Amino acid sequence: MARIVGAVTTSHVPAIGGAIAKGLQDEPYWKPFFGAFEKARAWLDRVRPDAAVVVYNDHGLQFFLDKMPTFAVGAADEYRNADEGWGLPTLPPYRGDAAFSWHIIESLVAEEFDITSCQEMLVDHAFTVPLKLLWPQGPCPVITVPVTVNTVQHPLPSPARCIKLGRALGRAIASWPADMKVVVLGTGGLSHQLDGQRAGFINRGFDEMCMAAMVDQPDALAGYSIAQLVEAAGTQGVEVINWLVARAALSGRVEKVHSNYHIPISNTASGMMVLQNAS
Ligand code: DHB
Ligand code: FE
Repeated sequence: MARIVGAVTTSHVPAIGGAIAKGLQDEPYWKPFFGAFEKARAWLDRVRPDAAVVVYNDHGLQFFLDKMPTFAVGAADEYRNADEGWGLPTLPPYRGDAAFSWHIIESLVAEEFDITSCQEMLVDHAFTVPLKLLWPQGPCPVITVPVTVNTVQHPLPSPARCIKLGRALGRAIASWPADMKVVVLGTGGLSHQLDGQRAGFINRGFDEMCMAAMVDQPDALAGYSIAQLVEAAGTQGVEVINWLVARAALSGRVEKVHSNYHIPISNTASGMMVLQNAS
């Protein structure tokens, strides 16, 4: 049976992709951010996943405001990257596994989540940047399953709903009969706001509370409405709901293998966590 080896949650700022393309990882601005990923990569070297289920939000590349699925799952053997407007170099296509994806979609729909299935899916920086941080060399070595959550066009799914989705996703992965090790990624956040009167808004206290809750009480965030989350974390900080999906896919007690918090990367309070089921 498939087994979830853990979860990695991380911010997904496009400027990170630009810094990778320009080789700026050791520059003073970037080093505290990139340095933290060495430990995440060391953990991946130990647990050696075959597949990554990537929970993220599309930013207008595959879905636009006119048609916005609340939850969508890729069901293809390949996913292409394209530039949604940040000018990042296009990365090579990612390997998928349509059969594994369809199993996840069927399991989620059976659990009453109305999933949009995508037999073609372009993936943006929120998918590519975290994968590049975790596997910097060459093309991405693991099979991928893109899972998008709408964090863009209101109404958005509530934190409580995202936690339920994550639990169902964990059951879906664990019931796949193939002998496969799976890491679940959750990308986005932490606090940031790119537009409006509060552009540049960051809330360290709220972010630290979220990172603590991610380990042993994700349900502490289930009581937040989306409006409260926007107020506390910023209009784009609401992307932390992607972290909740990934966290909730882990079962039982969870231990923190590693975490990092660094302000700012571009306009974003960048957070990263490596979590695994407690032994
Ligand atoms: C930034 C952050 C994001 O999450 C994003 O999708 C785009 C830009 C930023 O801080 O620049
Ligand atoms: Fe984003």
